[in-house]
Amino acid sequence: MNTFDVIILGAGAAGMMCALTAGQHGRRVLLLDHAATAGEKIRISGGGRCNFTNLNCQPANFLSANPQFCISALAGYTPQDFLALVETRGIAWHAKTQGQLFCDGPAQQIVDLLLTACAAAAVELVLDTHVASVTRGPDGFVVASNRGDYAAGRLVVATGGRSVPKLGASGFAYDLAAQFGLPVVTPRAGLVPLVFTPALRAMLAALSGVAVNAAVGAGGAEFRDALLFTHRGLSGPAILQISSYWQPGAALTIDLAPDHDVYALLRSARTAQGRQGAATVLAQVLPRRLAQRLAAAQGCEQAKLAELPDRALAALAAAVQRWAVTPDGSEGFRKAEVTVGGVATSALSSRDLQVRGVPGLYFIGEAVDVTGHLGGHNFQWAWSSGRAAGLAV
Ligand code: FDA
Repeated sequence: MNTFDVIILGAGAAGMMCALTAGQHGRRVLLLDHAATAGEKIRISGGGRCNFTNLNCQPANFLSANPQFCISALAGYTPQDFLALVETRGIAWHAKTQGQLFCDGPAQQIVDLLLTACAAAAVELVLDTHVASVTRGPDGFVVASNRGDYAAGRLVVATGGRSVPKLGASGFAYDLAAQFGLPVVTPRAGLVPLVFTPALRAMLAALSGVAVNAAVGAGGAEFRDALLFTHRGLSGPAILQISSYWQPGAALTIDLAPDHDVYALLRSARTAQGRQGAATVLAQVLPRRLAQRLAAAQGCEQAKLAELPDRALAALAAAVQRWAVTPDGSEGFRKAEVTVGGVATSALSSRDLQVRGVPGLYFIGEAVDVTGHLGGHNFQWAWSSGRAAGLAV
């Protein structure tokens, strides 16, 4: 039997951060993953440039049954702390909108940073290893695998959520939580494009590729960002963000021109230049293809503004600014950037992510019911929760 102080299951963002932290503090650490390479999601993240943190990261950027839960870990290891690590390794980076930080070069640099730090801290990394069972005895935990048995007093579960199975995602954390009698908030796809009924898709097909800055609301949340019409439905950052809040059957409310008062614009255009068509005026605030489609849907594609009564202008403005549309579903875990839900925070200590009532067992990262907004918050949660557990084990 190979014995360690700590076994960490899952060599992703949270697992590697936890491993290097524990190793740096003198623990003998085994880091185990069923994939052939560590940190696959980091490698492909942020369009290959890894949006590794967000300088504006706040507890309000996370969904959880307990919105307070993430506060302690985030305060213990901040975006500035991770940025300092990135800078120490000489990795060039740049800021995009809303505090999002990306590598200038390939995201692999972040994987290499973590692997180098793990190696320097004498973390033993075993890949391509399949866990057959986890048992708990008086001396701690035994992980049985196709490579033999491993034992440790501490076990950290960092196997992530269900998103993108082809990158190694599995429901392992939820199954293990069930084995220990822990509650799990039902996992569902988050940060994911939304799809529509075939009829609506056919209507919107002509708009595929059109992007617009929109305000999108659902489930008490609202995001203002780019919205993209696709051949299957809606995507773009505003839709990905709201998808984490959207519940099946609920409508989205969409303002396609949130910086304008479209009714006032149409009325004043009617007074000033009544011979103009409605689509021409809408095209001042919307992409032309979208303006034409909306005017056509309201039956005023050919009409001059002077011919349209207030009620027609109000209906057109409402179609632009109060579009209520009910998605048929989402693209699911295959396309989701994250999994909303996970191991219930009520079962864990917010200080070190240890399971209440099962000393030595920890859940970190995306496996936990803490889900970040788009923009580097999910990696920050992985770093912060990994660090908190790594210091405690
Ligand atoms: P993560 O999924 O990283 O790691 C889990 C590890 O456990 C994997 O290595 C997996 O192989 C392993 N594992 C799973 N089941 C196992 C089992 N049964 N046995 C052994 N090992 C097992 N976030 C962000 O902040 N900025 C960004 O730019 C992006 N971009 C992005 C792009 C895409 C396409 C996706 C899918 C996701 C993102 N994300 C993101 C989200 C981010 O990647 C995610 O939240 C973190 O990787 C979560 O880190 P974890 O370590 O918790 O899980």
